[in-house]
Amino acid sequence: MRSDRTDVNVRYNAVYMMILALETSCDETAAAIVEDGCRVVTSRIASSQDTFHESGGVIPEEAARKQVECIVPIVRTLLRDYAMPYSSIDAIAVTKGPGLSGSLLVGTTAARVLSSLWKCPIVGVHHTLGHLSSPWIECSPEPQFPVLTLSVSGGHSDLWYRTSHTKGKLLGSTRDDAAGEAFDKGAAMLSLPYPGGPSIQRAGAGGNRTAFPFPKPLHHEEGLDFSFSGLKTALKYTLRDLPTESSLAALVQDLAASYEHAVCRHLVEKLEKAVELFPTVKEVHIVGGVSANSHLRSLAEDSLKGYAIRYPQKISYCTDNAAMIGCAAHFLIQELGDAAFTPFTTEVSLPLSDVIQS
Ligand code: KG4
Ligand code: ZN
Repeated sequence: MRSDRTDVNVRYNAVYMMILALETSCDETAAAIVEDGCRVVTSRIASSQDTFHESGGVIPEEAARKQVECIVPIVRTLLRDYAMPYSSIDAIAVTKGPGLSGSLLVGTTAARVLSSLWKCPIVGVHHTLGHLSSPWIECSPEPQFPVLTLSVSGGHSDLWYRTSHTKGKLLGSTRDDAAGEAFDKGAAMLSLPYPGGPSIQRAGAGGNRTAFPFPKPLHHEEGLDFSFSGLKTALKYTLRDLPTESSLAALVQDLAASYEHAVCRHLVEKLEKAVELFPTVKEVHIVGGVSANSHLRSLAEDSLKGYAIRYPQKISYCTDNAAMIGCAAHFLIQELGDAAFTPFTTEVSLPLSDVIQS
């Protein structure tokens, strides 16, 4: 067992690190061991998503209860997979926020217990920084800065320009719902199960994307903000005006395809504008749960010809996972040194601009 932090300092100066990461900000209980920032040694995840198929969204108390049940077995399984002594773990990384308060507490408490038992330093990681780091996981050659990132999930929709993992600026954000939330709420209206993004993608496959003309939010605005509440309202009125209730079943494929197209078109329109404003970017990244969407990917590739577009290597690294938290922690330690280990509290809302600064 290590005796103090000094050993860790020596190791992170040498760049090589083995990090055990936990992520429990929403409805997943995820744990991973990440070597050298980018190589996933082992990764485990338990999700309570199935519980919420009917409710149309996560019920926070239910999610936290499930995480309390899952966290110890997940870590135990992870360490069994790892099959190395825990003294070889250099640091523990955990999502400190934003997220659901009970869920965050499960992860941070488990991380603090391990940290104290193993006398291992702990890094609190912003959840969205994890998503921004996810293209680095298992990726060769490594992404090159400056990077423009469209980060889209159930809790946020942001555009970032970055010159390093911790340096850059926020170019635009959603003014109301997040893109994933627009999918989740749209799916609930279409009587499709939670999570809404994959449901809408499945239901709309092969459908007519122009059958229902949804509006183009903030189309005439120069800025890089997003807005999805108008699309949600447009879907609501479209459904209200259907001739009969049974029309929904007959039209759901075209409705889902048109709605999915409208959400993705809005994201790509702003991404295109951002790229025009920052022509020196070397890469464009699309991350977060919504980056799993195949229509979003094909629209982006059609619109941004000539740019290197990167997504997380696997769909499981688009949605919430612990490997991205370990990866982000690695780069935080590299760029901030000791400051990465600053004591933290769990925070339900936490601006990423606290971490990424110009
Ligand atoms: O990043 P994530 O797993 O959790 C948050 O940080 O919120 O993102 C979850 C969101 C959900 O809203 C879900 O509907 C959406 O990502 N999502 C998708 C797809 N897969 C997940 N949206 C569109 N298409 C998908 N294939
Ligand atoms: Zn997320």
